[in-house]
Amino acid sequence: MNLKDKLYIVTGAAIDSDIGLAICKKLDAHGAKLILIGRREEALEATRCQLVGDHYVVPYNLSRLDDILPWAKTINEKYGPIDGLVHSASFQGYSPLRSISAKQINNYFDVNFSAALMLTTAFSRTKYYSHNASFVYIGSVAGQRGLKARTLYAASKAALSSLVQSAALELAIKSIRVNCVAPAIVSGAKADKQFQTIGEHQSQALIAAHPLGLCAPEDVANSVYFLVSDLSLKITGTTLIVDGGFLAG
Ligand SMILES: NC(=O)c1ccc[n+]([C@@H]2O[C@H](COP(=O)([O-])OP(=O)(O)OC[C@H]3O[C@@H](n4cnc5c(N)ncnc54)[C@H](OP(=O)(O)O)[C@@H]3O)[C@@H](O)[C@H]2O)c1
Repeated sequence: MNLKDKLYIVTGAAIDSDIGLAICKKLDAHGAKLILIGRREEALEATRCQLVGDHYVVPYNLSRLDDILPWAKTINEKYGPIDGLVHSASFQGYSPLRSISAKQINNYFDVNFSAALMLTTAFSRTKYYSHNASFVYIGSVAGQRGLKARTLYAASKAALSSLVQSAALELAIKSIRVNCVAPAIVSGAKADKQFQTIGEHQSQALIAAHPLGLCAPEDVANSVYFLVSDLSLKITGTTLIVDGGFLAG
């Protein structure tokens, strides 16, 4: 399915993001034009250098929730209506219950959930989106089951799965589809760091909990491509689990 002449916003598109970069490469390979969002301009430029097509780099801090509506207006004036958005930016980490603060709650929820919600609000306004637009948020299996010491990350990702259900109902009248992709841990730099932290024994157990093996970032990108393309025209309000079988066990 060709995405030529289609325009997508991809947040979390920095060169050192595992999944964001893979999504950019996948959509670029199918001819889409991308608006790359993240806080570090040089990290977005580095991603743009890896891509074939002409794309736009727009540094923005998604924690500035109050500014998202006016910021979206400038994007719309400059680049026109979008065919979809992929919200991959996130705040990740551990949050044991004994150490949780109000600031920490905001850190997780602002980027992982509230920014997704405000982007949806902004880009579902008339003239901000094209016919059959598709909005995709990157959730996590953490939002589908309990994970020790990860309450805030897990809850912020669970909120995304709830968001797509309600938003899908409200935006169907505009032919906008809204879906979530929920990966398990993917291979890459972050996974390697985590394996180093937890040691050989626990790493093997974690890998074994994925019957099909760990997903690569490209596996997640393939699902995003499916959900933004017309291959999934009748799919909305759902969370697509991409986890090598992790949740099946
Ligand atoms: N990696 C995994 O194993 C895994 C597993 C399950 C789910 N996920 C989910 O998949 C998505 C991608 O994961 P990832 O590990 O590739 O990327 P990530 O490191 O979580 O985030 C990608 C980029 O988001 C940007 N970002 C963070 N805060 C931002 C903010 N306030 N405003 C704008 N941009 C911001 C950062 O770039 P800047 O610093 O330049 O802003 C960062 O490089 C995330 O939603 C993550 O929760 C990942």
